[in-house]
Amino acid sequence: MTEAVVGTDWKAWQDSWDRQQEWYMPDREERFRVMLDMVEAFAGPTPRVLDLACGTGTITARLLDRFPGAVSTGVDLDPALLAIARGTFAGDDRVRFVTADLKDPQWTGQLPHASYDAVLTATALHWLHSDPLRTLYGQLAGVVREGGVFLNADHMPDPGTPRINEAERTLRHARMDRAKAAGALDWRAWWELAAADPVLAGPTAERFEIYGEHADGDTPSAEWHAQTLREAGFAEARTVWSSPMDAMVLALK
Ligand SMILES: C[S@@+](CC[C@H](N)C(=O)[O-])C[C@H]1O[C@@H](n2cnc3c(N)ncnc32)[C@H](O)[C@@H]1O
Repeated sequence: MTEAVVGTDWKAWQDSWDRQQEWYMPDREERFRVMLDMVEAFAGPTPRVLDLACGTGTITARLLDRFPGAVSTGVDLDPALLAIARGTFAGDDRVRFVTADLKDPQWTGQLPHASYDAVLTATALHWLHSDPLRTLYGQLAGVVREGGVFLNADHMPDPGTPRINEAERTLRHARMDRAKAAGALDWRAWWELAAADPVLAGPTAERFEIYGEHADGDTPSAEWHAQTLREAGFAEARTVWSSPMDAMVLALK
């Protein structure tokens, strides 16, 4: 391990990632709180969790803070975000990370466990188009144990309410503009910082080769997610939380 890696302040990178994401989603922590409430409701205080498209491991960090007896597998494809995740949880036996593409038909074969009490994901599956997402939901139905849950918190706009959507968007963007003027980092500025960091520069260049700026996906409605999850083999599915811009769908196996 190089001196630079030893000296990297992973917690600072975690925090700055969280601030950047909160710039887009001021109620991000609220959705995580409800997500973990639902995990507790269905799996109790020692769940085995799959943190799907984990990024820097934000969900895993909140999971372990609240349930120290939990274990987590984080899956992602981004080498820079995974470097931060691996650095943050180095030496913690409760956490494993897997590099995998969720569009790879074989990705579940890389998991260290055959099944999970809960699969959790946030702000990620809109990077997939609807057809690969439907396929992924079918795979997840095979990964969540009977009686376990899948929770997806993401942008799930309702196309039937264009004026409501537009008014909410205008207000949100005005707030974001003010926060940016006060120094908040957006996605692009955050990645510029990562690219300038001696440890993260390499993995950051790699992630831009994989994704470009951002993968291109779809943002279907919460109803679409619930219906598709039922078709994929989940017994029940519905929205358990929503904000004016986002929703969280729970599917019960
Ligand atoms: C906006 S980040 C959210 C990360 C984390 N869930 C959070 O809330 O901070 C989206 C994540 O989805 C991951 N992702 C997108 N498409 C993926 C794919 N096909 N396979 C694996 N991970 C993917 C990205 O690498 C990125 O880490």
